[in-house]
Amino acid sequence: MQPTIEKKIAGKLVLGITGGIAAYKAAELVRLLVKAGFDVQVVMTSAACQFITPVTMQALSGKPVFIDMWDSSISNGMPHIELSRHADAILVAPASADFMAKLVQGRADDLLSTLCLARDCSLLVAPAMNKQMWENPATQRNINQLKADGISILGPDSGEQACGEIGLGRMLEPESLLALVNAHFTPKLLAGKRILITAGATLEMLDPVRAITNLSSGKMGYAIAQAAADMGAEVTLISGASSVTAPSGIRKIDTISANEMYDAVMNNIIKQDIFIAVAAVADYRAVSQESEKIKKKSSMLTIELTRNKDILAEVASLPNAPFCIGFAAETENLLEYAEAKRQLKKLPLLVANLANEALGSDENSVTLLDKNGAHPLARAPKTEVAKLLLMHVAGML
Ligand code: CTP
Repeated sequence: MQPTIEKKIAGKLVLGITGGIAAYKAAELVRLLVKAGFDVQVVMTSAACQFITPVTMQALSGKPVFIDMWDSSISNGMPHIELSRHADAILVAPASADFMAKLVQGRADDLLSTLCLARDCSLLVAPAMNKQMWENPATQRNINQLKADGISILGPDSGEQACGEIGLGRMLEPESLLALVNAHFTPKLLAGKRILITAGATLEMLDPVRAITNLSSGKMGYAIAQAAADMGAEVTLISGASSVTAPSGIRKIDTISANEMYDAVMNNIIKQDIFIAVAAVADYRAVSQESEKIKKKSSMLTIELTRNKDILAEVASLPNAPFCIGFAAETENLLEYAEAKRQLKKLPLLVANLANEALGSDENSVTLLDKNGAHPLARAPKTEVAKLLLMHVAGML
């Protein structure tokens, strides 16, 4: 067996917090970033400290928070240089209208603006302000200038604001910011590749109100779609039932039955470079779907089932088949059954997992099976498993 593929640190981030009511959301953002594996150094403006305390941010980030230009705890006395040189990126969230105006002018009158000016890493800015402030031509001029200077603007979002008005200007939710930061840090290993992914559970109707389905949540397939998009791929997600929110920037096609999913895959498979079958596709459907509700009559009910087409096997046997990856969820003899499936369906790569460890969970432990053998991955969030799987695929390609 090959050694376990290890999880890496996601990246080193300076999180700048400026003065605005959305500063309270920075607490949740730090928590999510740290959970996702980022090393987060918080720097606050003195205005930000009016909205949320440095103690809260220190507790969540696990590091002292810097506010002051003249902080004596930095050994060389130059915190603006020291902090920005250790970062892979600076994220300012929330970024007030005033702070963005300062960035445009290259002003450096506090620690955060100085380290932004002194940076040699990328700068991401998440604006947060009242909608009139956002719409003001001065702010719009500043935003355009920041973009022209190569600064990434994340958001803002639209919706109800702290002042009670409704419109554009809210800071993006912490989950959305995390997704964008993840995308920023992900190497574009799949740039130029087209990937088709199936995900979720199929549903086979028996009558107008009853169906055969399964417990797949779609979390793994959606995580792969997100990771593939982050790695620069053009993603089409063909989904069965799932309550997971689709990643932005991908094409999603909703399907219900295995037959619908098969048709959607076959209509979109041409020109795809990679096909990843994550969906839990029903192997059988009812021979005939009753048009009226089935009534209980006798003590036994027999429903005749017929086999559905195996989408993955059919794609893998196409003349110009894309690089095909299958999943196998087993309850016993995991590697033996999974490797047999890989060979039967003629797949270059198969992901084996135990059904009881994977179904519905946010985490998974999987083993990648290819012609070189088994590569177990450490148990990790499905988002992390998705990245490691795609890095392996990029390596194989
Ligand atoms: N798959 C598919 N179309 C089907 C059935 C499965 O594309 N009609 C894909 C799944 O998305 C997954 C893999 O094939 O990638 C699962 O293989 P399979 O042998 O069908 O798994 P099970 O149905 O669990 O098989 P078994 O019941 O024999 O264990």
